[in-house]
Amino acid sequence: MKDEPESASEMTPSLVPPGPKGNWLTGVMPEFNRDSLGFVTRIARDYGDVVRTRFLYLTAYFISHPRDIERVLTTDHKNFIKPRSFRTPFFQRIVGHGLLTSEGDFWRRQRRLSQPAFHRERTNRYGEIMVDYTERLIDGWRDGETRDLHQDMMRLTMEIVARTLFSADVAGDAEDVGRALKEIAEPFASQATLKWILDNRLPTPAHRRFFRTVQKLDDVVFKVIGERRANGADAGDLLSMLLQAQDEDGGRMTDRQLRDEVMTLFLAGQETTALALTWTWHLLMLYPQAEARLHAELAEVLDGGERLPTVADLPRLPYTEMVIKESLRLYPPAWGVGREAVTDCEIGGYPIRRGAQVFMMSWVVHRDPRFYDAPEEFRPERWNAEEARRLPKFAYFPFGGGPRVCIGNAFAMMEAVLCLATIARRFRFSPAFGHHVTIMPAMSLRPRDGIKAVVHAH
Ligand code: HEM
Repeated sequence: MKDEPESASEMTPSLVPPGPKGNWLTGVMPEFNRDSLGFVTRIARDYGDVVRTRFLYLTAYFISHPRDIERVLTTDHKNFIKPRSFRTPFFQRIVGHGLLTSEGDFWRRQRRLSQPAFHRERTNRYGEIMVDYTERLIDGWRDGETRDLHQDMMRLTMEIVARTLFSADVAGDAEDVGRALKEIAEPFASQATLKWILDNRLPTPAHRRFFRTVQKLDDVVFKVIGERRANGADAGDLLSMLLQAQDEDGGRMTDRQLRDEVMTLFLAGQETTALALTWTWHLLMLYPQAEARLHAELAEVLDGGERLPTVADLPRLPYTEMVIKESLRLYPPAWGVGREAVTDCEIGGYPIRRGAQVFMMSWVVHRDPRFYDAPEEFRPERWNAEEARRLPKFAYFPFGGGPRVCIGNAFAMMEAVLCLATIARRFRFSPAFGHHVTIMPAMSLRPRDGIKAVVHAH
């Protein structure tokens, strides 16, 4: 990894950062929709670390230097709120005033109340559940069969999050919940098209379907909350922690607030972790040397692969963790972080007007040759302590950073490492003949047609 270079933006004399103008009406929206990853990569390369452009009537800045990203997310975080896209009716209807979208004192209180649910002593208890569900999934796998690993990982993390959030409570409703969650995620699969904008605001069939489905989901979640309040038992899950949480004044969350937090955790935690695992399988198929090293570590630590991994093994699985970290670098499920400026401020020497949207694309920064040698290559070894220390802070931010850093960060890493270890202990994969993997950058970075692979038992 290379030393931190000068920010190109600091050398730009003009007060307006350069950037593509796009169409007089839509700005760069068509270009962005046509090839989002290509677009964000190109503008950073062609215009520099601070790029100014426009989506319809919204001014947008793309920031690509770690030092500027650090300022937006940490030192100057008070100048920013979450981006406009978080305030669309679809998004608001799902997550309400949950952690991901709330702001100011309200957010601070919720974060404080939710934090204990994510303390390591607490989340460590979920390790066994994670391994157990993974074993159940792979017990049905047969040597030589072709599977869609994306679908498998989505199912696995859905079961894990349902169990760790609600315990057995959703067992009866799990299928309904699963189907409903899939349905409500659907509109987010497409990008900011005109249809998406209209569906959000007008009572189109898609709009009505979406609101009906969220209502069904609400019914289940409120039922679970009601039952849990009535019997008062600590089920040892995240919902119990949120129910017990109270601030210094003894204030607790209302049912509505609990519902918003539960939905937020579902939305923020399920697909992201599934994608981290999905892309990891894709990369391991492409890099047999890394795959071999992973298998060697698992065989050594897990007694020749004879036993299942546990939370206690995690410190002895450094390479497995490096595989996940490197996969999150190349395919960050949340491929960018957005903000809106709430005051006139400055980034990288440029004035930024209140109301501007500011985007920091991990997809771009994680592949910047100024910070990473051979950035397009999957090299888990680059995460060994010495190399990683040379990396500028915020050249790597798959979980965001600053006060709004992902609250499920450690939970997700534990889940990804344990699931990877449990599966790779017994299986490896090769690409299915004729299947092409295509990236679809929507709300998160998905494979458009899944990841089809042939299963090989060890
Ligand atoms: C590999 C998996 C994951 C990735 C890549 C990821 C990524 C992120 C990122 C980038 C943010 C910051 C967003 C921003 O600043 O605007 C975030 C926030 C958040 N994530 Fe995650 N996440 C993952 C897993 C999880 C899990 C497992 C949970 C919960 C069980 C979770 C819950 C949340 C919540 C509640 C927030 C909002 C925190 C706040 O603003 O206070 N995430 N995540």
